[in-house]
Amino acid sequence: MNNIGAGIAIIGCGSAAPQNKLTNENLSRMVETSDEWITSRTGMKIRHIANETESLSQLSADAAQKAIADAGLSPIDIDLIILATSTPDDLFGSASKVQSLLGATRAAAFDLTAACSGFVFALITASQFIRTGVYQNVVVIGADVVSRWVDWSDRTTCVLFGDGAGAIVCQASQTGDRLLAFEMRSDGSQNGCLNLPYQSQSQSLVSGITAQSGAYQPIMMNGREVYRFAVAKVPEAIEKAMYRAGLVIEDIDWLLLHQANQRILDAVAKRLKLSPEKILSNIGEYGNTSAASIPLALDAALREGKVKPGDTIATAGFGAGLTWSAAIFKWG
Ligand code: UT7
Repeated sequence: MNNIGAGIAIIGCGSAAPQNKLTNENLSRMVETSDEWITSRTGMKIRHIANETESLSQLSADAAQKAIADAGLSPIDIDLIILATSTPDDLFGSASKVQSLLGATRAAAFDLTAACSGFVFALITASQFIRTGVYQNVVVIGADVVSRWVDWSDRTTCVLFGDGAGAIVCQASQTGDRLLAFEMRSDGSQNGCLNLPYQSQSQSLVSGITAQSGAYQPIMMNGREVYRFAVAKVPEAIEKAMYRAGLVIEDIDWLLLHQANQRILDAVAKRLKLSPEKILSNIGEYGNTSAASIPLALDAALREGKVKPGDTIATAGFGAGLTWSAAIFKWG
């Protein structure tokens, strides 16, 4: 508890994705769609789909293990694990399972649910534990196996989603704070635009008392509304965070958005007057992986040597809730 006022350094990144790849060509044999429609409307070509041996917990642990190694740490050094997911293996949470798979025996672990905004919400949550001096090393994981909840006969959603996991390590730093600013927002009045709803079925227990047993229904999305929301709200949130950080758009090296649609990435960059070369995108190879998409794209950009220590990154998540959030951070 002697670290109050510590800054945050983001010092390691890793990712994992299922082996199996589902192409636009495959999808066009499942529903009435085409490679042309999917590519031109979304930029997507391939998405990874988890098989029966690839759990959310294992993908998360694989990504986290790589991030911890990348940071030069051991699992035993980790104080806290925050798992951003909306598709846990267990509705009671999967973070503790990840903790045990990692052997991070000192770490507390919990799930955080904020759909496609989950990773940025979790990064901001992690930063609070570090700034208050409570924890030194925090792993933030964004992971989803959305394929479990897709209606594979609904062409308006099934072409969009894929599975994966990405993780970062945040560490307390006495040499400057690299999380420069953030903005977090929610608007539940638009909750009906994007849901994975629970549908109950009444089961009579004794006279006058029923229990609501039931099951979750597949993803439902009003794509046009969510598109409009994202293009309007994400630039606003990034601009607010930039203002708080005292930065202008020329200071931003990379735009790292939730990978929902290439057209959204391009439209947000255009509204921010940011050059298209600064957009980080791996949408073609992964589709929309919900909470995993930002750390997956960050990891790819790091491995490709695009993002370098000291680079300034504007990141933003957006999606179900509705929720949206932005953060400006320096890598490394
Ligand atoms: O991760 C959470 C956040 N999610 C998002 O940010 C997603 C935001 N929304 C989007 O990215 C886009 O709205 C979609 C990619 C989901 C859809 O693209 P769109 O350009 O908004 O298409 P649309 O929904 O306006 O549909 C255009 C047409 C429709 O036909 P009509 O009504 O014009 O005859 C659809 O029925 O395209 C049709 N359509 C398809 N056609 C071929 C919808 N899905 C498909 C498909 N293949 N897979």
